[in-house]
Amino acid sequence: MSYHWIKLYESEEEMVNNLLPGRLILLDLRGNKICLSRNEKGVFAVQDKCPHNGASLSRGFCSANNEIICPLHRYSFDLSSGKATSGGAYTLQTYPIEIKNDGVWLGIKAKWWEL
Ligand code: FES
Repeated sequence: MSYHWIKLYESEEEMVNNLLPGRLILLDLRGNKICLSRNEKGVFAVQDKCPHNGASLSRGFCSANNEIICPLHRYSFDLSSGKATSGGAYTLQTYPIEIKNDGVWLGIKAKWWEL
């Protein structure tokens, strides 16, 4: 699998200072609306558009169970797998995050025509 890697922060420290636990941030990267969050289990990036009815998940909130909760109908999704934990058989697209010495990176799968 080939990815476009996009630097989100120059360092882990910068990320910790700017991405507070439980806070949701909306990113627009290469035409993808992505919801970024951090908690004690790690840093997670999932599609921002709720697969149920299109609400922006970055306007929702996080639970203590590593879930993101949609603000519209309160369906919940596991931040690691993207799978719905309530509301239906939906799955969010997830994006890999890598914390390296040179920064914090998010991967977006390359389209077949970009390979
Ligand atoms: S739009 Fe997200 S649960 Fe309905």
